[in-house]
Amino acid sequence: MDNPDIIYKTDALIASDIDSYLETHQHKTMLRFITCGSVDDGKSTLIGRLLYDSKMIFEDQLASLEADSKKVGTQGQEIDFALLVDGLAAEREQGITIDVAYRFFATEKRKFIVADTPGHEQYTRNMITGASTADLAIILIDARQGILTQTRRHSYLAHLIGIKHLVVAVNKMDLVDYDETVYNRIISEYAAFAKEMGIEAFTPIPISGLAGDNITSQSSNMSWYKGPSLIEHLENVEVMNTANQSGPLRLTVQWVNRPNLDFRGFSGQIASGTVKPGDEVRVLPSGKISTVKRIVTMDGDLDRAVAGQSVTLALNDEIDCSRGDVIAAADAPPQVADQFESTIVWMGEEELLPGRSYWMKIGAQFVSATIQPPKYQVNVNNMEQLAAKTLQLNTIGVAEIATDRPIIFEPYADNRDLGGFILIDKISNATVAAGMLHFSLRRSQNVHWQNIDIDRTAHALQKHQEPRVIWFTGLSGSGKSTIANMVEKRLYALGKHSFLLDGDNVRHGLNKDLGFTDADRVENIRRIGEVARLMADAGLIVLTAFISPFRAERQLVRSMLPEGEFLEIFVDTPLSVAEERDVKGLYKKARAGELKNFTGIDSDYEAPENADIRIDTTKMKPDEAAELIVDKIVGSWAYTI
Ligand code: ADX
Repeated sequence: MDNPDIIYKTDALIASDIDSYLETHQHKTMLRFITCGSVDDGKSTLIGRLLYDSKMIFEDQLASLEADSKKVGTQGQEIDFALLVDGLAAEREQGITIDVAYRFFATEKRKFIVADTPGHEQYTRNMITGASTADLAIILIDARQGILTQTRRHSYLAHLIGIKHLVVAVNKMDLVDYDETVYNRIISEYAAFAKEMGIEAFTPIPISGLAGDNITSQSSNMSWYKGPSLIEHLENVEVMNTANQSGPLRLTVQWVNRPNLDFRGFSGQIASGTVKPGDEVRVLPSGKISTVKRIVTMDGDLDRAVAGQSVTLALNDEIDCSRGDVIAAADAPPQVADQFESTIVWMGEEELLPGRSYWMKIGAQFVSATIQPPKYQVNVNNMEQLAAKTLQLNTIGVAEIATDRPIIFEPYADNRDLGGFILIDKISNATVAAGMLHFSLRRSQNVHWQNIDIDRTAHALQKHQEPRVIWFTGLSGSGKSTIANMVEKRLYALGKHSFLLDGDNVRHGLNKDLGFTDADRVENIRRIGEVARLMADAGLIVLTAFISPFRAERQLVRSMLPEGEFLEIFVDTPLSVAEERDVKGLYKKARAGELKNFTGIDSDYEAPENADIRIDTTKMKPDEAAELIVDKIVGSWAYTI
C-alpha cells in the first residue's frame, strides 16, 4: 500500500497472502442497503460506526473524507471515531445537491454498499436514487423523538420501491437510559402504521450508533433485547438476488453489436430467467420470433446464461431489434401497452401539469408521456387518500399515464426494470418524478387504430391543397384573431378550405370547463391540438388563435403533426402596446386585481424562440402580415395544385 498515512487497519491476510485474501473476498455475497431517517437521527454516526467497527475501510474512501487524513489515522494508530463521523457528515453536506454518497465496507462474511442520502424532505429524490438499487433499508428513529413524518415517508417510499427488508433501528438508546418501554412503544406504533402501508415484516433493533450498542455484538446495556446486532443481521439477512432466475427470460437490449456483416449480436444484462442456444425467443415490441444461435461473452461462448449475467445474444434470423427492445421467452413475453395506472412520486420544483408531455425513461426505452389529473394523493402520515388536481414537490399520488407509443412493461412488483420509470421535463431536462407502473388499462389494449381508406392525403387532394396547422401565439390583444381572420379570407378567395379555431369561441363550448390556471391552459392547448390534428386529417388548413403561453404545449402540437405541417406564427406585440389597446378592457381589470392569472400580468408568457414567422405588429399592418402568411403557406406546398 503506497500511502501508509491513511491506512486504518489492514487485514493481516492482505500482507501475508494477497491471493487468498482476494479469493475470500470474491466469494462473499454483497448486500446493498440504504439508511434513511430525519436530519438528526444520527445517520452519519451510524454509518461511521459501521465502517469503524467492520474494521475495513477502503483507502480511497478514507482519503476522500473531509477530515485531515493525518489526524484520521496513521499507521498502527486507531482512527479517531469522532473525526471519521465529522468527515462523513461534512462530505454529505457538500455532496447534498449532487447525489447519493456510496460507502463500501466488508466484514468477514459479506461485502456491503451503503447509500448515504440526506435526510431533508427536499432530498426525497436522492433517497429514491439510493433506494432503487438497495436490498435493504435501515429506517433510523431517534429514541427521544419517536416516529416522525420523515420516518413514515421513507418507510412508504422504501416499500413502494420494493425493498423487501426493512430494519427499524431505534437509535440513541443511550440517551433514554436504554429503557425497554421507550423502545417497545416506538416499535408498536411503527408496527401499526407499517401494517396500514402494506409492509409485511420488519426487523426492529435498539441501538446506539455513538456508543456502539448492538452494532457488532449484543449490548450488555440492553440485556432485555434478544435479537441480533445490526451487523449480524446485515450479514445474515437472506437477499434474494434481484435478478431472478426462475422467471421467464428478459433481456433489455443495451446496444447492438455489428463488428462485421456476418455477425449481429444484442447485448445487455439478463434481468430474469435463463437462456440456452436453441431457445425460442420473441423480440418486443415487434413480436417477431427467432431462436438463439450463440451466447457470446468476453470469455467465449456459453452453453447457458442466467439472470444477472451480461451477454451478447446472436439469433438465427435477421429480425429487427434495436436498443431498448426486449428479448423475451417466446411463450411468456412481457406486455406491450400505452396506458397505465401508476404511482408517482413528484420531485419537481414546479407542480405536475396534467396533460403536459414529459420524457419518460423506462428501462432502456425513452418515450413521451402525459399524466391524467391524479386519482388521489397519499397522505403519508395516515395513508389517507386525498383528492388532488395535481402533485406538488415531494407528494405521492396515483394517476393514469399515457405514452405516445406502446412500451414494453411489467408491473413494478414483478420487475423493477420494466416497471419503474422516471419523468424528465422537456425544457429544463430536470428529473421531475419517479414512478411505478401497476397495470395497463384494458382500454389501451382493446382500442385499436382504425385504418380508414379515405385517408388525409385523399381528403386534401380532393380540396386541391395540403393540410396545414397555422398556429398563432401571442399575448391577449396582440392581434392574433384579427390577422388569422384576414388570412382565412385570403385563403377563401383562393378557393382553399380552412377553419379558424379561436380562443374566446372554443372556451364557450368544447373548453368551457377550463379556466386560466397553468394546468387548465395546458389542457386547453392539448385539446385544441387534438382538434386541429383531426381537422388537418380532414385535409383542412386550420388556423388557431390562442395565447398558448407555454413552449412545451406548442412543441407538443408540432410533434403531433407530420414534419412541415405546423407553422408557428408569433404575433409579437409588446405588453405595453397590448395593454394600451386593451380592446376588451381585461388588462385594466387585471391591473385592478379583479382578474387573476392574467397573461403578462401575473401569469407567464413564454415567447417562441424559433417561430416560423414573427409578426412585429408595431411595424407591420394586419393586412401585410396576412399576405406574408398566405405566401408562406402556399409557398410551402410541395406541388402546385
Ligand atoms: S390560453 O392561455 O389558454 O391559450 P386562450 O387563448 O384560450 O388562452 O384564451 C385567452 C382569452 O381569454 C383572452 O384573449 C381573453 O379574452 C380571455 N381571458 C380571460 N381571462 C384571462 C386570463 N386570466 N388570462 C388570459 N386571457 C384571459
